[in-house]
Amino acid sequence: MKEVIVALDYPEANPALKLIDQIGEDLTWVKVGMQLYYKEGPKFIDQLKSKKLKIFLDLKLHDIPHTVARACESLLNLGVDMTNVHCLGGKEMMAAAAEVCSDQLQLIGVTQLTSTSQRQMNQEMSIPGELEQSVLSLASLAKESALSGVVCSSFEAALIKKHCGSEFLSVCPGIRFEEDAKDDQVRVASPKFAGENSVDFAVIGRSITKANSPKDKFLQAIAEMRI
Ligand code: C5P
Repeated sequence: MKEVIVALDYPEANPALKLIDQIGEDLTWVKVGMQLYYKEGPKFIDQLKSKKLKIFLDLKLHDIPHTVARACESLLNLGVDMTNVHCLGGKEMMAAAAEVCSDQLQLIGVTQLTSTSQRQMNQEMSIPGELEQSVLSLASLAKESALSGVVCSSFEAALIKKHCGSEFLSVCPGIRFEEDAKDDQVRVASPKFAGENSVDFAVIGRSITKANSPKDKFLQAIAEMRI
C-alpha cells in the first residue's frame, strides 16, 4: 500500500476545504490535526466524510490507560478511519486503546516525533541510546499492544517492517521535496525515498499546502511515491 496523506494544518475549515477542492478527485486521504479539530470539531469531520475522504485524526493521545480508552470510544462515534496514541504512554495504555478501536478504527502509535533529534532525545528527554533503536523498540511495543502500525520517519520504516511484519503500517511525516526547506522537521526525506523504503503512508503538509500549485505538488508526490 502506498498513499499520500495531505495534512490539513489550517486554523479553520475554509482554507482546508479550499485546498481539498484545489487538489480535486485524486485526493483520497487527509489528516486533521489538533489545530483544526480543536477549532472546528466533529462537524468538520462530517464535512470531510460527505466528500468521501479517508480521515486520519492526528490527536496523539497520551494519558492514563482508562482515559485514553474512553477517548477512543468517543472517537469511534466520529467515523474517522485512522487515529493515534503516543507509544511512550506504554503498553497498557496502547492495549486499552487498541481493544476499543478493534477493527473499527486503525490505531497507530507515535514513536519518536520526526522533529526530535538524537541530542534532544538523549539530553532533554533523558532517553539513552540511538534514536533508531528507540523507534524500533517503541514500534515492537506497539505491535505487542495490537496496534495497526506506527508513525515513524522514512528512515526507520524498512527496519520496522523487518521486525514487525509487512502488514504493520508505517505512517511517515517529515516528507519534503529535494528543493524544499526542512522547517521545524529534523529527519526529513523525499516522497521518492519514502516510496523506495517501505513507507505505506507519506504524510505531507507544508510541501503541498504552501506550494504555488498544491495540485501539481500532490501529483508529483504520488508519482514519486508509487515508483
Ligand atoms: O508540514 P509538514 O509536512 O511538516 O507536516 C507534518 C505533519 O505531520 C504535521 O501535521 C505534524 O503534526 C504531523 N506529524 C509529524 N511528526 C509526527 C507525527 C505527526 O510531523 N511524528
